[in-house]
Amino acid sequence: MKKWNLNSWMKYPAKHLPIYQDKKELDLVLSKVKKYPPLVFAGETRSLKKSLADVVDGRAFLLQGGDCAESFAEFHPDNIRDTLKVILQMSLVLTVSACVPVVKIGRIAGQFSKPRSAPTEKKNGQELPSYLGDNINGMEFTEKARVPDAKRLFRAYSQSASTLNLLRAFSQGGFADLRQVHLWNLGFIKDKTKGKYKEIEDKISDALAFMEACGINSDNNRRLRTVNFYTSHEALLLPFEEAMTRVDSTTGEYHDTSAHFVWIGDRTRQLDGAHVEFCRGIKNPLGLKCGPTLKPDELIKLCNILNPDNDPGRMTLISRFGANNVEKYLPKLIKAVKKEGLNVIWSCDPMHGNTIKAATGFKTRPFDSVLKEVKSFFAVNQTEGSYAGGLHVEMTGQDVTECTGGAQKISENDLSNRYRTHCDPRLNADQALELAFLISEEIKKNSKYSKKIIQAAS
Ligand code: PEP
Ligand code: CO
Repeated sequence: MKKWNLNSWMKYPAKHLPIYQDKKELDLVLSKVKKYPPLVFAGETRSLKKSLADVVDGRAFLLQGGDCAESFAEFHPDNIRDTLKVILQMSLVLTVSACVPVVKIGRIAGQFSKPRSAPTEKKNGQELPSYLGDNINGMEFTEKARVPDAKRLFRAYSQSASTLNLLRAFSQGGFADLRQVHLWNLGFIKDKTKGKYKEIEDKISDALAFMEACGINSDNNRRLRTVNFYTSHEALLLPFEEAMTRVDSTTGEYHDTSAHFVWIGDRTRQLDGAHVEFCRGIKNPLGLKCGPTLKPDELIKLCNILNPDNDPGRMTLISRFGANNVEKYLPKLIKAVKKEGLNVIWSCDPMHGNTIKAATGFKTRPFDSVLKEVKSFFAVNQTEGSYAGGLHVEMTGQDVTECTGGAQKISENDLSNRYRTHCDPRLNADQALELAFLISEEIKKNSKYSKKIIQAAS
């Protein structure tokens, strides 16, 4: 294996990196960021990897969710709180369905940079460089805003730090109390679904009552009132990721301290590319987006480069084929991974293969396509005898109108009401939670543990 160092990625072709006109300023900014405190700690990242190894074994389920692109404009404590709230609500539903713990990772506290399908954007006859994410350039359609500005990294770092601070407080300080999350879900069922899915929440009521009778409740048991919550983003902007990568003093290993988990996007996963080179040297758990152009032999090579020791918990393969393409592409990849005996998590991103343009011009995703892709993902895993271990969604806790359909029956005409995303359309709070309820049966079927319980009872 070739030698890796912090900037060996620079010798490889890199896609989707911005070109900074003022190189001196970029270097100055990066030299300062290098001295900033880590955003996450190596010990936390190791705990996450351990939990992800449980997912590989089918002893846990992974839920990863949050914004497509975080923005400076939407930065508000309520938004952070509400995203966390929905992830907790979804996790509770998934836990009951799968009978296993849910590992919770946000696309948050650092998910800024975006690969774009076109390098430029045209509007009213004017052509400008595309918006690349708030830590690179501005979304306003002006020449000035679209120039990459290295100083934006300071603001992104500071926003990530305070987002993490709040997330840590919420996850440990009582907000995540299981009783409370259950009450939120009951409220959703009553107000939004006319009692549909009540059966699932009834099971939780019974379990809580049973535990209470046994003397276990969230007042006397920390596990019931706190959660471990981890952060993630796409490791796209390599100069920043490099600046945040530090040697862990206890092990001598390199950790990218910008997030617990980072992933390589579908557009930057070239075998000989800079993003793969950078990620192979850091010890964080890694995601790899798997889209229709990924060939089985390429996937095996990528896994061997990124996880040469076949370490369980290191690799999460995130399938994103589009609702009608899962059966065409996923089985070959699962078969190849199985044949090689690779330890991976199979997770489903039902968002990125289902983006369409509405007649009204908005980028959207029909809720039914999202649901169909998840169901198809579970069915394929069932057929192939592999464990469908995760769900990766773009969602927000806000009541936005960006994806069509769902219980609120958002139409293409409704999209303009509250279309706030800086990049791709997100599931709103109700759509995200409903998705968790709607896949409950699939999860149950796929879970070794709910099967065991059912078998033991029959
Ligand atoms: C994303 O997750 O925001 C993304 C760009 O996905 P993909 O790389 O799968 O297109
Ligand atoms: Co996206």
